[in-house]
Amino acid sequence: MTHAGAPASPQGEHLLLQGVTDYAIYLLDASGTILSWNTGGERIKGYTGSEVIGRHFSCFYTPEEIQHGVPEHALAIASQEGRYETEGWRVRKDGSRFRAHIVIDAIYRDGGLVGFAKVTRDITEHYQAAAQRRQAEQALAQAQKIAAVGQLTLGIAHDFNNLLAVITASLDLLPAAEGRRRQMLVDAARQAAARGARLTRQMLAFARGQSLEPELHDVNALIGSAAEVYRRAGGPITQCVFDLAEADTRVMVDAEQLEAALVNLVANARDAMEQPGTIRIATRITRPDPALHPGAVAGRDYLYVSVADDGRGMEEHVRQRAMEPFFTTKDVGRGSGLGLSQVFGFASQSGGFAFIESAPGEGTCVTMAIPAGEAADA
Ligand SMILES: Nc1ncnc2c1ncn2[C@@H]1O[C@H](COP(=O)(O)OP(=O)(O)OP(=O)(O)O)[C@@H](O)[C@H]1O
Ligand SMILES: [Mg+2]
Repeated sequence: MTHAGAPASPQGEHLLLQGVTDYAIYLLDASGTILSWNTGGERIKGYTGSEVIGRHFSCFYTPEEIQHGVPEHALAIASQEGRYETEGWRVRKDGSRFRAHIVIDAIYRDGGLVGFAKVTRDITEHYQAAAQRRQAEQALAQAQKIAAVGQLTLGIAHDFNNLLAVITASLDLLPAAEGRRRQMLVDAARQAAARGARLTRQMLAFARGQSLEPELHDVNALIGSAAEVYRRAGGPITQCVFDLAEADTRVMVDAEQLEAALVNLVANARDAMEQPGTIRIATRITRPDPALHPGAVAGRDYLYVSVADDGRGMEEHVRQRAMEPFFTTKDVGRGSGLGLSQVFGFASQSGGFAFIESAPGEGTCVTMAIPAGEAADA
């Protein structure tokens, strides 16, 4: 299209524009009246030249757009800036709509505006293909969501199994137990059953699409109230000790998730024990170095909740992969590889991070770091 000056050969240009069928190319005077028409215009919009020449170009716009003054706005922009470009729905003669890509160029002569050249391209097919692609992408995202729910279900089944193991272990020991010990076993089984019931409620809440809001919990108190569950989960040859910070250990967490994470860690410690040993559950407030812990926010205090054992420890390649979902070194049927991924998921969903310190023969310490100081913010 020419911007300035009259075409060298008006007749030649006319023939050239006539031949273009993929684009509607036409000229408007300064007020928007149609001065010329081409084959592309006929093809795309369905009007012949005699039907539109002399009419105002707003006849191609939808009634809503005319009401909102869109055609005038387009010309105003083109005359101010020299060019106006847009994409939108336009109307054909038969009333059907098509997706249009539109460019309006202002034509100046001797410094004054004489009219506009308007080029309209029908991009309906392209637009529909893009819409179909978007739909396909949405369907894929939905499928991925379903897969994630499947993984979550596995995780919950896994947590449930841990609780059943506590109940079974307690029941096994019950016939031979007496007095205070008997009472402790009964309490442990009852607490595990109650946690199982809460887990089922959580699952139902999730299925109904309710999200589980973390709440302010005193982690020391949570650990204290379930101490017997951890002792049972630790099995007969381990001793469970608690080393709880003398500090404000209130943080925003989901209590069931934290307890499930601790049971998972204690179960791992138990499995790593070849001879009688100690499992140490500890809490402390720390300000981690972001250089060592990329998940940490500089200058922020975290509550470290850790489970340490003096078991066999991990080879470096195991330590690096241990938190991956389904990663396990245990025999089929013994481990699903979901314990540490639940721990990791819990810590990151709580706004924190988790890490493993371990070496062969040196035992293992897994730490969940949860942002502290929320009690003051809350
Ligand atoms: N305390 C630990 N000491 C030594 N190795 C550990 C310890 N905790 C985890 N591991 C290693 O990390 C792997 C992954 O642990 P994770 O808890 O995710 O799965 P798992 O214990 O194998 O199976 P699941 O917990 O699903 O029954 C374990 O198979 C084990 O090799
Ligand atoms: Mg495990």
